[in-house]
Amino acid sequence: MSNQTFETQCLPCTDEALSLGEALLRQGEIIGVPTETVYGLAADASNGEAIEKIYIAKGRPSFNPLIVHVGSSLNSCQKLAEQGLLDRDKISEQAVELANKLMRAFWPGPLTLVLPRGPTLSPMVARGLETVGFRMPGHPDFLKFLDRSGLVLAAPSANRSNRISPTLVQHVLAELSGRIPLVLDGGACQVGLESTIVEISGPSATIRLLRKGAIACEALEAEAGVSLQALPAGERLLAPGMMSKHYSPTKPLLLVHEDNLCLELQSLRQSGVLAKISVLKFSDSPSLTMEKELQICGSPLELKYLPCNDSLAAKILFQTLRMCDESDAQIILVELPKQRLQSGLWPAIWDRLTRAGVRHLTDRPSDGST
Ligand code: TXA
Ligand code: MG
Repeated sequence: MSNQTFETQCLPCTDEALSLGEALLRQGEIIGVPTETVYGLAADASNGEAIEKIYIAKGRPSFNPLIVHVGSSLNSCQKLAEQGLLDRDKISEQAVELANKLMRAFWPGPLTLVLPRGPTLSPMVARGLETVGFRMPGHPDFLKFLDRSGLVLAAPSANRSNRISPTLVQHVLAELSGRIPLVLDGGACQVGLESTIVEISGPSATIRLLRKGAIACEALEAEAGVSLQALPAGERLLAPGMMSKHYSPTKPLLLVHEDNLCLELQSLRQSGVLAKISVLKFSDSPSLTMEKELQICGSPLELKYLPCNDSLAAKILFQTLRMCDESDAQIILVELPKQRLQSGLWPAIWDRLTRAGVRHLTDRPSDGST
């Protein structure tokens, strides 16, 4: 089974394609699906064998649990518990109230809530943990798919393990073609960054941030009415996506502060690095002068830009990193703006860049990421 190869079909989300996708999932196959964050690789969450196929196709470490995606009728703890997805006996009244409140505010959307796992989910989803992450996706075609089929789907991002998350259907094909029978094309992911993951537990409904993501922490805190707690370093494996190296291009990616870009380029050249360098800058007004100055510091290089607006930057971050990875440059150098903004999607953007970077040429940025 592990060596099975497919001629991967890539189809827009017509009713026929959704029916084909449903049939494949019911047969225990895995398929690529669009979400508003990144593309996912989905399996029926009650089918342990199908879930195993996700791990094989991705080369995912076996200890890393999956997020479960639910349709729009499963919009409260009660509804999840009625379907046996959530264990109501293991969660306090206060935690239920808080979880319901966050579901009302942010679902469908990029918020994953980690709660006690119920019996109808395959234990394979949680990889030995008693909890599981739930999310109701905001992509209209995927939500329609979940609603029509009534399926509950386990889905990680549809990339090979540790690689850059896919935000266009072409990325899924580049990563998984031949390994899966179908990917549904839902266009470019509108958000471009993975969901924010929080765990709610305990008698007083403690809320802990497991992964920074597409919902800003301040928005969650405003809704929850309490502060998010950070994950202690010793508990990192609770959310293995928090592993320090993740989301990586295949080429070395170096992070450098704005003021030092020219110096770093010069010192790379002086130390004998002759390779072409891909330089990624945050700028809304790229100028020829800026480009010329950089070429003087260390050509040959190619310049790519990310917008200074956080939502716009998030939307094309992974796509742009992938382009740098695919170009003929051999090193990627990402210039971090001097001003490290702590609100909106910036902390999640820094988090992903920091995890993608293999070496920091200048002071390691500290965004409090755990
Ligand atoms: O936006 C997203 O969340 C995307 C789309 C496809 O929904 N999914 C995604 O899945 O990013 P993945 O597998 O790439 O990342 C899921 C993260 C992993 O780091 C995993 O460790 C964590 O969620 N996770 C899942 N279940 C957990 C649990 N019970 N406790 C702690 N962390 C959990
Ligand atoms: Mg992932």
